[in-house]
Amino acid sequence: MQITVETRNAIDVRTAMLVLLVPKLEGGQWRPSPRAAAVDRALGGRIAAVIASGDFRGKMGEGLLLYPNAEIPAERVQLLGLGEEGELDAESLRCLAGHAVDAARNRRAASIAICAPRVRGLRLPQITQALAEGLVLASYRFDTYRERDKDAAPSVKRASLLIDRPAALKAARDACRTGVVLAESQNLSRQLSNEPANALPPAQLANAAKRVAREVGLGARVMDVAELKKHRMGGILAVGGGSANTPRLIVLDHDPRSKRGKKGAKRSAESARRLPTVCLVGKGITFDSGGISIKPSAAMDEMKHDMSGAAAVIGALRACALLKLPIRVVGVIAAAENMPSSTAYRPGDVVTTMSGKTVEILNTDAEGRVVLADALHYANTKFKPEAIVDLATLTGACVVALGKWATGLFGSHEGLIEAVRTAGESTAERAWPMPLWEVHRKAVRSDVADIKNTTGRDASSSTAAAFLANFVGDTPWVHLDIAGTAWGNKPSPYLKKGATGVGVRLLVELLQGWKEKQIV
Ligand code: BES
Ligand code: MN
Ligand code: ZN
Repeated sequence: MQITVETRNAIDVRTAMLVLLVPKLEGGQWRPSPRAAAVDRALGGRIAAVIASGDFRGKMGEGLLLYPNAEIPAERVQLLGLGEEGELDAESLRCLAGHAVDAARNRRAASIAICAPRVRGLRLPQITQALAEGLVLASYRFDTYRERDKDAAPSVKRASLLIDRPAALKAARDACRTGVVLAESQNLSRQLSNEPANALPPAQLANAAKRVAREVGLGARVMDVAELKKHRMGGILAVGGGSANTPRLIVLDHDPRSKRGKKGAKRSAESARRLPTVCLVGKGITFDSGGISIKPSAAMDEMKHDMSGAAAVIGALRACALLKLPIRVVGVIAAAENMPSSTAYRPGDVVTTMSGKTVEILNTDAEGRVVLADALHYANTKFKPEAIVDLATLTGACVVALGKWATGLFGSHEGLIEAVRTAGESTAERAWPMPLWEVHRKAVRSDVADIKNTTGRDASSSTAAAFLANFVGDTPWVHLDIAGTAWGNKPSPYLKKGATGVGVRLLVELLQGWKEKQIV
């Protein structure tokens, strides 16, 4: 979708669908914005008449379609209720954009124009960014394998955001572009997560990451089994050992000092100084059958999404590169397929991780933490970051605790935890603090090895986090358990069925202005 921001009058815009946002009516009274009033006048008062009829009340997401009689160039006028004006925020704008995309798709309208509403507490750039995000996110559908669908309901090709403040045009356009970059990066993450496991085993996930890196100018490095062995990454090797689709460790590197494509370009004195580095670590289990501790068959297909943490990391790195964030961000992904076979790791096995710590395997279905052990240790020791954030579809218990409504938030550093929570609040990707205490750390101690990979059902999201804490040293670290938020049936008006791409916008929000925020 191509999105433009314009200052033209709504009555002059040639579009298949002009969208007017109408607040919830108080006592049937409509107080139109100047632009809506102009459209109403051009249509001979028909909008006012519809509203006076009581057929349209302006409830959030409510729609009503009018057909101009060539009085204006727009082919259709879609009224869209925006609900209580006082309750509007960036998230409601994303939802409204989602409703607008639905309305356009229903009428096979290839272009839309939306009059950007004023929102108390939001500046115009925030408004155009949120609308752009909603439009791009709502336009995504996982139709890769459904040829027929593609022409059945084509999605909107062009959208114009109409604003009424020419002085703010440049800022509004920049913010719109930021919104498009974020949403397209999130859609990339959704696509990777939605791809079936037969299409995207670890090697293919690595190829996809490399392709993204080439497109946007990220460094990329992929370790295959031989290199994993050289690095003694016993955790990833154990989990990946049961599958003919061998494991990989994927590294994506956004370094604002390096000018890719200009090999040998001299670094200036300024750019040679050490930049703050943040590592993003993702669980990339391309399919989680449970392994020898095999899962029940119900909903096992959903375990193709068990690499959603990895997908979020790839999406976030893409956005970091395109938005030219002034810090170094390194993504580290542990990619493996968890399968039962004669070469699979087993309950009772003791695995030596890259850190040297040994892990007693009590359940092969607790595989995420085992691969993350190596990825976290590698990230921490190789890049010596200021902070580490990992994302993982780690525990079913987190889904029980928080449902699809929030990501589980664990960590070792109060400031970083609070910064992540705040970032999630502002991008409407709620992350909620969960306990990680000394008792949990003690619970993962093993009788036969340094630690064990399961402690039973009690507080198993917290004990999983405590397991991970063994591999980040003293580095400020946050763990996001996205088991409940990474995919869903209909997560929101702008996120349809399937993978949500959760984490992409949250991570970029966290990393924007990192130095100034002085979190760690
Ligand atoms: N990938 C699953 C967690 C999961 C379950 C995510 C359902 C999303 C929806 C993870 O690898 C897993 O199997 N965890 C087990 C651990 C248990 C065996 C200790 C769990 O949470 O049940
Ligand atoms: Mn599992
Ligand atoms: Zn898993």
